[in-house]
Amino acid sequence: MSLPAKKRKDLIVTFGTISIPAKTKELINDILENKRISSGKYVRRFEDRFAELVRVKEAVAVSSGTDADILALAVLHDFGANRGDEVIVPALSFVATGNAVLHAGFTPVFVDIERETLNIDPTQIEAAVTEKTRALLPVHLMGKPAPMDSINELAARYGLKVIEDAAEAHGSLYQGKPVGGLADMGAFSLYIAHIITTGEGGIVTTNNEEYADILRSLRAHGRACNCRQCTLSSASKYCSKRFQNDGVDIRFRFDRIGYSCKMNELEAAIGLGNAEIYQEILDIRRRNLLYVLERFHRFHPYLATIQEAPGERIGPHAIPIIVQEEASFTREELANYLEKKGIETRTLFASMPTQCPGFAFLGHKLGEFPNAEYLGNHGIHIGVHHNLGLQEMEYILETLNRFLEKFQR
Ligand SMILES: Cc1ncc(COP(=O)(O)O)c(C=O)c1O
Repeated sequence: MSLPAKKRKDLIVTFGTISIPAKTKELINDILENKRISSGKYVRRFEDRFAELVRVKEAVAVSSGTDADILALAVLHDFGANRGDEVIVPALSFVATGNAVLHAGFTPVFVDIERETLNIDPTQIEAAVTEKTRALLPVHLMGKPAPMDSINELAARYGLKVIEDAAEAHGSLYQGKPVGGLADMGAFSLYIAHIITTGEGGIVTTNNEEYADILRSLRAHGRACNCRQCTLSSASKYCSKRFQNDGVDIRFRFDRIGYSCKMNELEAAIGLGNAEIYQEILDIRRRNLLYVLERFHRFHPYLATIQEAPGERIGPHAIPIIVQEEASFTREELANYLEKKGIETRTLFASMPTQCPGFAFLGHKLGEFPNAEYLGNHGIHIGVHHNLGLQEMEYILETLNRFLEKFQR
């Protein structure tokens, strides 16, 4: 995938892109030809491929990254968790993380983040643990791995489960291992902004086969029938388990409060096509991201970003940029300038408990999560996708330079 050099006036830096490789078209034709759209063999194949990439035993595909978070959390109900129990999450994330905790029937307990890593501050987690805590849900924000060693150690000490929100962390490594396989379960988004995409979609990864069985049941209304391959739903196959239970049809027995969030075959076909070019996409995005990160110190002390720590590899999701206290300009001025120069920006989310009105009912007050709130007011992120190259990365750096010359007094 090499990109032709562009004239300066043609340079635009969009936030995201999608690839539809020939493989996807071929599979979609086959799916349409055979009229099997709902979850089937291609979803299973995609699950196997994704599990391989994350180096875990099982992957269970669902309709979105939010559903992946919700279902992973809902598994806790099979292990004694009660509605209203607590799950610890970083205060700063895409709002889906906090929403998922509530939708799974738990109360989110927020912990502030570190400004340098954007991730949950490991020194503040223990103080948030109570008798009702059941799980920790760290987020690998912007592909930067959360401090999993201290998180797993704390969880083991208190008997808590750990679910990694790896929505933005495709390709991230922590001590040489892919994130999403470092704890009880990992939850990925496959929405179009992410490296492997299915258009809309999500997937839960785990090394625990029992969790995978529960996840398959949860995504299909909580039904008792949770085989990887349901012979009953593949027309005219005989299922010997069907009436095994006192004559009750296991496909219509519902063991737990479930959801309806299966992935369909067309989405899996997009995912399988993307998985074929995964390494290529990852390499381009990594090259783009590192090009900017390595040159970013020139903007010190006015702008900050993240850096790769020893032993980790940042998943190349996007370039976060934080306007620092020393700056004499605002985030709005920066974002408006970049947008006018053809560089799309997104804000760097918000402190869920204190800057997202939907969480107001939890009663938190502005000032409780100073780092998350600072980023909520001063952060943006910019794309590094695989249809961009070093020319665009250089353009981002030059544009930031010119902005500082103009706006920093
Ligand atoms: C950290 C985080 N968690 C969860 C999600 C939810 O994913 P989706 O949009 O696929 O529901 C996202 C979305 O990108 C995210 O950034």
